[in-house]
Amino acid sequence: MAREAGDIAWLLGLEPVYIARDEIELRAWSFSHQVILERDVEHYTDMPFVIGIGENTIRKAVAERFKGSLTFINLIHPSATFGFAQRELLEQGEGNIVAAGARFTSGTTVGNFCIFNQNATIAHDCIVESYVHVAPGANLSGNVHLKTGCWVGAGAVVNQGSNSQKRVVGENTVVGSGAIVIKDCEANAVYAGVPAKRIK
Ligand SMILES: CC(C)(COP(=O)(O)OP(=O)(O)OC[C@H]1O[C@@H](n2cnc3c(N)ncnc32)[C@H](O)[C@@H]1OP(=O)(O)O)[C@@H](O)C(=O)NCCC(=O)NCCS
Repeated sequence: MAREAGDIAWLLGLEPVYIARDEIELRAWSFSHQVILERDVEHYTDMPFVIGIGENTIRKAVAERFKGSLTFINLIHPSATFGFAQRELLEQGEGNIVAAGARFTSGTTVGNFCIFNQNATIAHDCIVESYVHVAPGANLSGNVHLKTGCWVGAGAVVNQGSNSQKRVVGENTVVGSGAIVIKDCEANAVYAGVPAKRIK
């Protein structure tokens, strides 16, 4: 996700600096942009940061390590679109990444350090807690509540809930690619298929 985040930064007229965990990771980076080591990040505290890591638990660990010492911004691709007042709602959080073609309608609250990947669609009145990843092409059909750390796989659909009873995907749960969720999903589980069933 780091390169995708960097690409958004370039488009916004920023010059991204990438961070490698250590020398081994630094040597493995195959492109020519500026890469610094994590231990040197204290020299760059005047810059805004995002965490371009798709895996929710790792992104959360990194966020917790640097909370208070770095400034995190929301990084939003210029082609993402938002319904009335929705961008402002999202901007109440920090560290969120919204990739190319993502579409929000309105009334969705968003926590911190979420990823809305390419062409994800987030319909009205959802609640998205922190450290959530909505993978490319996934669709939240309105009144969906994604709890902390859950992952909605590529092309999956979470059918709509209602104003009084949102459709819930539990904490840290993974919804597999292409699944169609028609009932609430328990926490710490894996769901897949059409309709989605718990497989782990
Ligand atoms: C659902 C998922 C998390 C399961 O991964 P896993 O825990 O490693 O599970 P396995 O690959 O061992 O598969 C377990 C079973 O589920 C089935 N399965 C796996 N993924 C499935 C999917 N997306 N839809 C339907 N069935 C699926 C497998 O065929 C297997 O069935 P079997 O036991 O009858 O052989 C994973 O396959 C997936 O879809 N991840 C999301 C990928 C994605 O969206 N990436 C986007 C990156 S931004």
